[in-house]
Amino acid sequence: MVEFVLPQNSRPVEGKVWPAPEGATRLREFRIYRFDPDTSANPRIDTYFVDLDDCGPMVLDAILWIKNRIDPTLTFRRSCREGICGSCSMNIDGLNTLACTKGMDEIEGAIKIYPLPHMPVVKDLVPDLTDFYAQHAAIEPWLQASSPDPEKERLQSPQDRHKLDGLYECILCACCSTSCPSYWWNSDRFLGPAALLQAQRWVADSRDEATETRVAYVDDAFRLYRCHTILNCSNACPKGLRPGTAIAELKNLAIAQDTKKE
Ligand code: SF4
Ligand code: SF4
Ligand code: FES
Repeated sequence: MVEFVLPQNSRPVEGKVWPAPEGATRLREFRIYRFDPDTSANPRIDTYFVDLDDCGPMVLDAILWIKNRIDPTLTFRRSCREGICGSCSMNIDGLNTLACTKGMDEIEGAIKIYPLPHMPVVKDLVPDLTDFYAQHAAIEPWLQASSPDPEKERLQSPQDRHKLDGLYECILCACCSTSCPSYWWNSDRFLGPAALLQAQRWVADSRDEATETRVAYVDDAFRLYRCHTILNCSNACPKGLRPGTAIAELKNLAIAQDTKKE
């Protein structure tokens, strides 16, 4: 279970209780974090009531319903509505997950929604992911090969292709990194589970020839070894990936590489 921690902005106060839609008979209560950077006001928790007879089954359906029917200022990211783009990650009912794949029927009582924990908040449910993306860029997430270009393409056997399963599916939603206590306290120096899983994705790729450099880059007391194998990251991943396992493999490779040098 991912421990719930408030975003970095100060503690929210009780906000507005919006009127329930007239004539609705099946209502669901939502308590949603609101923060407007254009005011000096504290963040607040607004309460909304959604008409379940007029709304789809997912949490994202409900917050879109709120935005379209009640409060157009409610701000959040979303794009694909299919669990593919990673945009709609947020903290729902105490867990980091995707709003578009989280069913309202999986949650009891009022549905509490916060931005991903321990990140600066741009507005409402939108965290600032600038550093998170910079960490992804730092592991150079593209194929690197110095051998001559083949005539058509770099081939890969089915067996080698299978080694990428559980790695290539990452949608960079940041649910894992923002559930990791080590990342909360050291996100300026620890790469975090998402970037490390991506690093392992390229290390595991038989077509990539930069393994040594990649492993040497992460082999650092902070970049890699701030991971203490708590495994919040693997519990949080809405795609069922296991960043903790990828990190363990990177640690093994780093140790092997260090031993070879000695
Ligand atoms: S296993 Fe490592 S990366 Fe994952 S939550 Fe724990 S400390 Fe963070
Ligand atoms: S490993 Fe999972 S939780 Fe982490 S960024 Fe990728 S898809 Fe999201
Ligand atoms: S909207 Fe794309 S993952 Fe949820």
